[in-house]
Amino acid sequence: MNYIGSKKKLLKFIEYSILDTAGDIKNYTFCDLFAGTGTVAKQFKTLCHSVITNDIEYYSYIINRNIIGISEIMECEHLIDELNQLKGIDGFIYNNYCMGSNSKRNYFTDKNGRKIDAIRVKIKEWKNDSRITENQYYHLLASLLESVDKVANVASVYGAFLKKIKKSASNEIKLKSIQPISNNKKCIVYNKDANELIKNISGDILYLDPPYNARQYGANYHILNTIAKYDYFVPKGITGLRNYITSDYCRKNVVKDKFEDLIKNSKFQYIYLSYSNEGLMSLEEIENIMSKYGKYEKRTMKFYPRFKADKNREYTAETTTEYLHILKKEY
Ligand SMILES: C[S@@+](CC[C@H](N)C(=O)[O-])C[C@H]1O[C@@H](n2cnc3c(N)ncnc32)[C@H](O)[C@@H]1O
Repeated sequence: MNYIGSKKKLLKFIEYSILDTAGDIKNYTFCDLFAGTGTVAKQFKTLCHSVITNDIEYYSYIINRNIIGISEIMECEHLIDELNQLKGIDGFIYNNYCMGSNSKRNYFTDKNGRKIDAIRVKIKEWKNDSRITENQYYHLLASLLESVDKVANVASVYGAFLKKIKKSASNEIKLKSIQPISNNKKCIVYNKDANELIKNISGDILYLDPPYNARQYGANYHILNTIAKYDYFVPKGITGLRNYITSDYCRKNVVKDKFEDLIKNSKFQYIYLSYSNEGLMSLEEIENIMSKYGKYEKRTMKFYPRFKADKNREYTAETTTEYLHILKKEY
């Protein structure tokens, strides 16, 4: 998934910096507290003894519950085939996010909208009838979210839809299995506010990748939450938004206090923070906060592409500098 702030391209830098500072991590517990698509947690699930992931957004929970929370190979091809063969139905997505229903929203072709509804309803039905296990439920739902993303008629995020159906959105949706990292590691996946969860967990390595500007993930990925929850609400405005969580990490006046609270309450020896130099907190503010709690150092990596809306509302890559702030906490 093309995700705002994804660390896919920074993974080697993060891995190298962590191994270089924390040493032998094979017996360590690694926590990815703002996990997003789970890119970083996935890597450390292969390197550490156990992994904890968390994200405040429900779609992220579903994605991580599959790739991190399940530790076996999922053999669900028969279920995936059955879902792919379903006939579309007029459900919540078709009625509210496709043109054919007169919703005036164009997030999916009518055919894909109806198919998404049919698949989502069937997954729910199978869960209610106990035809599938809990792991199979999360596996199928996470696979649906990833497949939906491939045919969404948006420039990159779901903040707005495109007027005309773009090429990739005109393809028929095909559910594809997204396999978990199946290495029998002990993993726990949470869907909580980071500052609340931190009071109740402990481990060795804490990786922090909070939002660094005012863009709210709940608004930019609202359709994924709607498909993941499949609840009833009245979509608002032209874009069909649902109510969403406003993260404190996207608010200039509170972010510093929240960040310090997080560092103070962390029961982890090594803490790593990914943060852009264009973020709401300045480099100096981060350094001042982290240095209060132990030995601090900073590493940098340049030329990381970031999202930028141009005048045609397309998203293009620009370069910026990414920082990894490192703290060896002293108690
Ligand atoms: C920069 S993204 C993480 C990207 C992730 N490392 C990846 O590679 O996909 C920041 C994440 O923080 C989550 N988030 C924002 N505020 C949060 C909070 N208060 N508690 C937990 N998660 C939060 C967002 O939902 C988003 O997924």
